[in-house]
Amino acid sequence: MPQQILILDFGSQYTQLIARRIRELNVYCEIHPFTHAPDLSEDIRGVVLSGSPCSVRDAASPNPDLSQYLGRVPVLGVCYGAQLLAHQQGGEVLPATIREYGRARLSHVHHDSPLLRGIPTGSQVWMSHGDTIKTLPEGFDSIASTPEVDVAAFHIEGQPTYGIQFHPEVTHSADGKLLLHNFVVGICGLDQSWTPEHFVDSMVTALQRTIGEQDQVILGLSGGVDSSVAALLLHRAIGPRLHGIFVNNGLLRKDEYEGVLHSYRDLGLNVRGVDASQEFYAALAGLTDPEQKRKAIGRTFIEVFDREAQQVEGARWLAQGTIYPDVIESVSVNGPAVTIKSHHNVGGLPDKMNLKVVEPLRSLFKDEVREVGHTLGLPVEILHRHPFPGPGLGIRILGDITPEKVDLLQRADAIFIKGLKDYGLYDQVWQAGVMLLPIQSVGVMGDERTYERVVALRAVTSVDGMTADWAHLPYDFLADVSNRIINQVRGINRVVYDISSKPPATIEWE
Ligand code: XMP
Repeated sequence: MPQQILILDFGSQYTQLIARRIRELNVYCEIHPFTHAPDLSEDIRGVVLSGSPCSVRDAASPNPDLSQYLGRVPVLGVCYGAQLLAHQQGGEVLPATIREYGRARLSHVHHDSPLLRGIPTGSQVWMSHGDTIKTLPEGFDSIASTPEVDVAAFHIEGQPTYGIQFHPEVTHSADGKLLLHNFVVGICGLDQSWTPEHFVDSMVTALQRTIGEQDQVILGLSGGVDSSVAALLLHRAIGPRLHGIFVNNGLLRKDEYEGVLHSYRDLGLNVRGVDASQEFYAALAGLTDPEQKRKAIGRTFIEVFDREAQQVEGARWLAQGTIYPDVIESVSVNGPAVTIKSHHNVGGLPDKMNLKVVEPLRSLFKDEVREVGHTLGLPVEILHRHPFPGPGLGIRILGDITPEKVDLLQRADAIFIKGLKDYGLYDQVWQAGVMLLPIQSVGVMGDERTYERVVALRAVTSVDGMTADWAHLPYDFLADVSNRIINQVRGINRVVYDISSKPPATIEWE
């Protein structure tokens, strides 16, 4: 385990952001639910107590015993975390008379506090709490205030324990990053060595240690960033004992199968391409319900993948491109349950195959995966590729799927994506694609009336796909793409642009 900051999660919407900000300082950190607080070890150099939607005044609110950390390593309580520290030691936490949400300015700052070093009076901070610390316990000193809140930050005398009522992790807290730097580097004394290069070196060593010398490892490749980066890391660790399997489910983008396979081979990866398009089409024949289509695609994938994996002698491991947001255990504040998100694309695969699972990207956020991929020389076409759903074009053809419809959609989609690249718009968009609608509309071509298909273009801006806005693409560009699709793809005579945001719409249409 690398030296790290432990973040105890009390269920705040901002907990992941704290982790990202600390990682941006090139310091490793992990989020653990307060219900499963790890024992203090050599590697844990500091603890952050997160915020929470709860109030310390509620009997059922999170109230773990923190004595194993306090006074032994530096501790920083953020918002609820700060109120909890005060509450546990006899301070008074009350509902704020003015509920403090949004911007505030620090009016008094103890500049000699190691936590606040370099932070000016007047610095903007972001508040988001209904409670406030009215009276501090004995031995606690207020080290910053705002016009509304006397105790915006405190320090416990004689130990490196601090609390702050604002959120340093959000960008609206102007000096939030400096404050976290002061805590993590200045107070906890962590060196900032958590770099992509460091990650690659230590992960390669760890993989070599974990995977037996004769063991073969199987990895399903999708052409996406995560599985590709996982492949490069494993390749560096165990060379050709990594067996990549890239399945063509017949629902990939135009020429994607050949293109991606080619890139993988250029990278020296040991990859087997399997064209199973016909099997997928057969499994999908006549299905119109989106969930049934997803299930048929998932089931067929497992069958094909399992069959191919059987060919690899000595296979002991299944590698997966699972990343950190997939595995963070999120605290449920409405009950004791701790839910773990599963990797939805390949759920069920490890159980069926009776292999041990290795997940080299389990501790990384998406942007960190990209940085590692860049360090490992992954080509930009893969590094900056838009996300693409596991069921592929299967959920972009509304209604039943036939090879003819796939061909039509692939051609329209290729024109749209090439257009985005030609116009320099591809990297400004988070995800884009074309939907083939289950309707026909009337048109005229030459002297003839036509009765052909309609496609919808979809392009969104987003940070993580959870919320999204439709991309405000230039009209000239949309006009050009529409013309090209109608002129070049026989069978499509109408193009529309989707201007719905998520929520309430979703990115995909099925
Ligand atoms: P929605 O449509 O829910 O999509 O707004 C959010 C993101 O998830 C992708 N998506 C999927 N990915 N299997 C996947 O692997 C699926 O069944 C699936 N459905 C949606 C979608 O492309 C977008 O990136």
